[in-house]
Amino acid sequence: MTTTFSFFGVTTTSSAIRRIFPRWMAELGIDSELVGLDFAVDAPAAEYRKAVERIKADPQSVGGLITTHKLNVLSAARDLFDELDDAAELLKETSCIHKDGARLLGAALDDRTSLLGLDALVGEGYWDGTRELVVLGAGGASIALTLGLHRAARSGRPVPSRVIVTARSEARLDEMRSLHAEIGFAIPTEYLVAGTSTEADRVVASAGSGSVIVNATGMGKDRPGSPVSEVAPFPRDAVVWDMNYRGELRFLADARSQRRDDLRVVDGWDYFVYSWTMVVGVVYGIDIPAAGPLFDRLSELARAA
Ligand SMILES: NC(=O)c1ccc[n+]([C@@H]2O[C@H](COP(=O)([O-])OP(=O)(O)OC[C@H]3O[C@@H](n4cnc5c(N)ncnc54)[C@H](OP(=O)(O)O)[C@@H]3O)[C@@H](O)[C@H]2O)c1
Repeated sequence: MTTTFSFFGVTTTSSAIRRIFPRWMAELGIDSELVGLDFAVDAPAAEYRKAVERIKADPQSVGGLITTHKLNVLSAARDLFDELDDAAELLKETSCIHKDGARLLGAALDDRTSLLGLDALVGEGYWDGTRELVVLGAGGASIALTLGLHRAARSGRPVPSRVIVTARSEARLDEMRSLHAEIGFAIPTEYLVAGTSTEADRVVASAGSGSVIVNATGMGKDRPGSPVSEVAPFPRDAVVWDMNYRGELRFLADARSQRRDDLRVVDGWDYFVYSWTMVVGVVYGIDIPAAGPLFDRLSELARAA
């Protein structure tokens, strides 16, 4: 029986996963098809609910991956899930739907996948007690990354010496502050309103040399532009990372056009591959360690597609 894997997004036909998924299934020897489900941003709750009901009722449907609609899907269909993992409970979102027999399970995996993305970028040894992390944007991806860092710190791993998070409004920062208070987030953190590129440039300039500067605003993919100006004063030896790999990617294009030899400018491709391989692993019950030959093979197939 061919099973189906649902992909909840906004413009799923433009995602590279449409080409990658069939190759991964062939490699893994799984007979399964990707079904793209496009929803407008903040679509009516009934639409999300109907999609989750269909997955739950259909024995051919094995689960799926949710991008933009993680919070909305869970709030619209919370009662349809038989169990949620800790991160889904904490973040009130689900990025992965999977099944255990007839039981419908929800998981939020971005804390783990974004940390893998950050590790792929700089490696955990990079955090030497002086280097800082600036996260522009305080939405789900930003919160998940700080949760990943929190878990890393708890397990004794090195983490940035300071985290600076920006948002356009104080309300978003308050949400993050209260979540951080709830989990006992212990990395020194500054929460700054910086809604204009001038303000964001000032924040970026205040970070120490070797800082990692992350665009987690969705600008450059979900909406045009960049959170910083084209002459953003990135600190010396900064690593400039956009969580996205597709779209106009203005933040990355502007950073590259500064032609500074000391900057490393990286897109969100690795993060994308970590996110998808982890969900595929959970949904089909396959162990795909992030640093192993199977992951490398899937990553290679993704790049080739
Ligand atoms: N590579 C991957 O696999 C991967 C995985 C996960 C996420 N991502 C990408 O990461 C991006 C962020 O995801 P998300 O789920 O966190 O999105 P989100 O929930 O929409 O959050 C974006 C946040 O950035 C804020 N923001 C927007 N413009 C800003 C600006 N100029 N300065 C400061 N903050 C600004 C928004 O503020 P308001 O609330 O005021 O609008 C919002 O809080 C998305 O584009 C997503 O595609 C990529």
